[in-house]
Amino acid sequence: MSGAAGQVVVFGSLNADLTVHVDRFPEPGETLSGSELVTAPGGKSSNQAATVAVLGSPARLIGAVGDDANGRFLLGRATDAGVDVSGVTTEAEHATGSAMIVVDAAGENTIIVSPGANGAHDPDTVDAEEFADAAVVCLCLEVPLRAVQAAAEHGRAAGAQVLVNLSPYADVPKQLLGLTDVLLVNRTEAALVLGRDDVGEDWSTALDGLVGLGVDRAVVTLGADGSVVLDATQTGDDRIAVVDPISVEVVDTTGCGDAFTGALAHRLAGGASLAEAARFAAQVSALAATAQGAQTSYTAFAHLKEPTRD
Ligand code: RIB
Repeated sequence: MSGAAGQVVVFGSLNADLTVHVDRFPEPGETLSGSELVTAPGGKSSNQAATVAVLGSPARLIGAVGDDANGRFLLGRATDAGVDVSGVTTEAEHATGSAMIVVDAAGENTIIVSPGANGAHDPDTVDAEEFADAAVVCLCLEVPLRAVQAAAEHGRAAGAQVLVNLSPYADVPKQLLGLTDVLLVNRTEAALVLGRDDVGEDWSTALDGLVGLGVDRAVVTLGADGSVVLDATQTGDDRIAVVDPISVEVVDTTGCGDAFTGALAHRLAGGASLAEAARFAAQVSALAATAQGAQTSYTAFAHLKEPTRD
């Protein structure tokens, strides 16, 4: 491990989450009344960084906001969560990213993101120095792909483990997969990256396919069915580990995937194996589903905080 003190560097997005609760989702062309609008901190990367900090690892967020009230709100809330936001720039010519979120009575959501300043990342402005102390670099696809690739290159050069969450899904160049130490995908994303209609249940074949794309280690999340860890660096039965689902009363699934990613990064930064980290992440993301919102639900797992390493 490279980074002293197990630092996790999260490069990517910050959004103001504008959330309304409804009994059911509207049909196309239909108007429904919902609950009062709630504005809360979100964005996949900001959520991941908040998770890392809540769990007790040093978390550094690199991203961009606009010069507006939402931007100041997001920076304030991330700082309160314990995230180092000194790598977040303010882009005066863009609005802060926002996400229009509708949550139904079952806790499922639909999300439309307006990227705003998140779209302003340019590979030339991704500074290698920002990644120098990283033990783990966390990436998602809510910012331009070329900037994600630059961040992966800097993470790899620093000796960090590069964790890539292919969400929201986009086809990625093989070079980015080759820079990925741990790929985090759901079942649909796994099928897409493997170029199949369905990923199926034959995890050994799926792992072989990923290895062919340059990815040796992956976690495939399976929703209510838990997740599976695929690890070509292990031998025999240890190459595939099934992580059982954790049953909770679901209130709101917003930000649960990001909590999973952040928890995985936190444990990997502490030296855990991928299977150990995934078992812990399953617990964290299940607890995140028991309260409303993304970062606002993360108090539900704050009791799992571990002492910060020196
Ligand atoms: O993964 C949940 C997140 O997706 C929300 O916080 C929203 O901002 C969107 O980025």
